[in-house]
Order: sequence, then structure tokens, then C-alpha cells
Amino acid sequence: MKSDLIVGIQWGDEGKGKIVDLLAQDYDVVCRYQGGHNAGHTIVVDDKKLALHLIPSGVLNQNAINIIGNGVVISPKDLIEEMKPFGDLSDRLFISDKAHMILRHHILIDQAREKLRGKKAIGTTGRGIGPAYGNKIERVGHRIGELKDTEKLAKSLIEYFDINHVLFEALGIETANYDDLKKELDAYAKVLVPMIADTTSMVWNALDENKKVLLEGAQGTLLDIDHGTYPFVTSSSTVSAGACIGLGLNPKDIGNVTGIVKAYCTRVGNGPFPTEDFTQDGKDLGEKGKEFGVTTGRARRCGWFDAVACRYASRLNGCDELAFMKLDVLDGFPKIKVCVAYEIDGKRVETLPQSLENVTPIYEEYDGWDRVQGITKYEDLPENAKKYVKRIEELTQTKIGLISTGPDRKETIFV
Ligand code: IMP
Repeated sequence: MKSDLIVGIQWGDEGKGKIVDLLAQDYDVVCRYQGGHNAGHTIVVDDKKLALHLIPSGVLNQNAINIIGNGVVISPKDLIEEMKPFGDLSDRLFISDKAHMILRHHILIDQAREKLRGKKAIGTTGRGIGPAYGNKIERVGHRIGELKDTEKLAKSLIEYFDINHVLFEALGIETANYDDLKKELDAYAKVLVPMIADTTSMVWNALDENKKVLLEGAQGTLLDIDHGTYPFVTSSSTVSAGACIGLGLNPKDIGNVTGIVKAYCTRVGNGPFPTEDFTQDGKDLGEKGKEFGVTTGRARRCGWFDAVACRYASRLNGCDELAFMKLDVLDGFPKIKVCVAYEIDGKRVETLPQSLENVTPIYEEYDGWDRVQGITKYEDLPENAKKYVKRIEELTQTKIGLISTGPDRKETIFV
């Protein structure tokens, strides 16, 4: 059996939560492979809104096993907090012993550095993501499996604080003493150690036993550490290939790849965004789409669908199909724009350049429609909405397999 994969193909916040939640009902195992509690999935079930940051969306399916893979960075404190509303998860949630931890000092470093960067800030979520992944790559990080011996872990952290005292002093960060640290780590260990497992073997076994496995990406392709708009990116491999590294799979373990894409485009934080709309249209997209971050509450920047970036992202991820989200947000717009190419130094460019700074979008404009909200059958869509969907398929060279016409699970068209 091969696993199925869900990946964001813009700058995150495409509506992966709804799709993963919708699909998770049919899967035996749901896995997260990268990112941390910078992510935020909003899920609406029977008009109730739930926010998930680290826990895979399979948690709402009582029969599914949920896995947090080695590629994720975990803040033990925040994970424990997030687990609370779900009761006992010890037989349904498993954490890779190799996943790195985000501890208090990572969060403080992230926030202090952003402040120092001033106008050049990345606009991070302030959750310690960059410093934790940085420590992993520097080979000085700490894995969650180390919670099994908190004495050794606390000693090692104190040693790290001592060696790096100049950095901490410069950033005005007071590091913990041994006793407080040990107490804090003991509290984490008590809850999380029973959930630590060899998750790679668990996923292999599930696939060998023909169980259905869903891999859930966080953030989006254009925030990928290698392939996104560096340095305005997150610190993990958000693309589909990241699932191999972040879970211990090989490329042949991955079957169907679904790219999640919004019918328009948003971005949180700083960095280039060619189709950003600074007019009333941009404001209307934000208001109608309720474009505020689940994790930080920040207003998202809004603009039009960028077909050049999406074609690139679809190819990069190997998308078999797209889930086209939030089409209803475009209801009532008299004209809808799509970026089909960029103008760079007076030339038309149809492939993604190395940098998205200083590119001017070239738009096609289409007539809008009154209302798609709540429609569940493709044939019931207004003609102009169908034309829009068809044009996006052509431009991205990818089939649209699902259209979302509202936040609820029911408001979905399976094409
Ligand atoms: P970090 O991941 O907190 O380091 O933030 C780096 C960049 O990624 C910032 O622009 C964030 O706004 C963005 N980012 C991180 N997580 C998400 C997400 O889940 N959705 C959208 N943007 C995100």
C-alpha cells in the first residue's frame, strides 16, 4: 500500500485543515511530517471551530492512529496544552523519538531576533521554529526521546546555556537554572514519554498491512526552506519530498499527492507576494475569507491567484490533483483576476524566477458570478465559476478533484 499526501501549494493557510479532516475519516493512520506549532488548522465540525497546531487532524476520527514524525519540531508545553480537550490520547497519538524539541529559549531567541531585525524581520510566528531547526542542523539540538532521561537532558541543556552565555546575554535572555529546568522537563516527560515510539516502523508496518495512511503537510510550498521565497520562509521542507525525510519513508511509499490551493492567494509575514492587492478588492478578500492567522491572529495579506507559482508548486510536489478551496469567497466580485505570467525587466516570464522580488504580475481578468456558497454538485455551479475552474486547471496543468464552497465538511464538490 502507498500513502496519500496532502500538501499546501501556496504560502500556507490554503484550507488543508478542512481537507485533511474530511479525508481523515477514511484513514487508519494520519501523520504530520514537518513544521511545529507555527501551523494552525481550523476545522469546523457541526458549526464548532477547533484549532489544531501540532496534533494531526486524524484526532477527530476515534479509529485513527495519529503520528507526529521525526521532521516535526515539538514544543512539549504547547503539545500538552493542545492535547487537553481530547482527553486520553495515549493509544491514539504517537511521537517520533527523533523529533526535536522547541524549548523556552528557542522561543525567546526567535522573538528577540525578530525584534532586532526591525524592518527586515521575517515576520515569524514567534514560536521558536527557526532556532529549534537551526540547533538540529548544527547538531546541538535535543530530541524528544531524550525526555526519557531528564537528568542527562537538563545537564546537557545547562552546558549549552553556559557555552552560549554570550549569545543569551546579548539577546537579554535569562536561561533557566538546573533545578527549574529538571522540574519542567520531568513534567513534560510524565505526559509525553508514554507516547514516544519508533514511528517510522509504525508507518512501515501500517503500509505493509495495507492500512490507509495519510501524510499531512503544514505551511505551504512557497514557504519551503529550499524552494520557497528564501529567506522569507519557514525552516522546514514543506514540499511533498519532506514527508520522506520527516517520517522515514522512501519516495516509493508515496502514492496520490493532493495539492491544496485557495481560489485566490494570501500570505502572512513578510516577503515578496507579486499578486498582493492593495485596493478595496484585497480588503474584501480578507474580510470575506476571514483571513486572520489561526496561530497568531495576524491579518493575512490578500491577492489574486498566481498561476505561475501554482504550476511550479504542482510540478515540484508531483500533484495528481488540486483541491480548490474557498471558491465561495469570490462570490459577488464583478471581475476576478489571475496572474498568468510575470513581467521582469520588460520581458514576459512564465516560469518561476529565482527571486519574486521586483516582478510585475500579468493578469487575465474574468467575469464573476453571484453565488457558489454551499453548492455540492459541479453541474450546479454558475457557468462563470465553471470557466474559472477550467482555466485554473489549464494554467496549473493539474486536474481539480475537489472544490470547497464553504467552511463546513458538507460544503464540498467532489468533481
Ligand atoms: P516561522 O515558521 O514561525 O519561523 O515563520 C516563518 C514564516 O512562515 C513567516 O512568514 C510566517 O508567517 C510563515 N508561517 C509559518 N507557519 C505558517 C502557517 O501555518 N501558515 C502561514 N504562514 C506560516
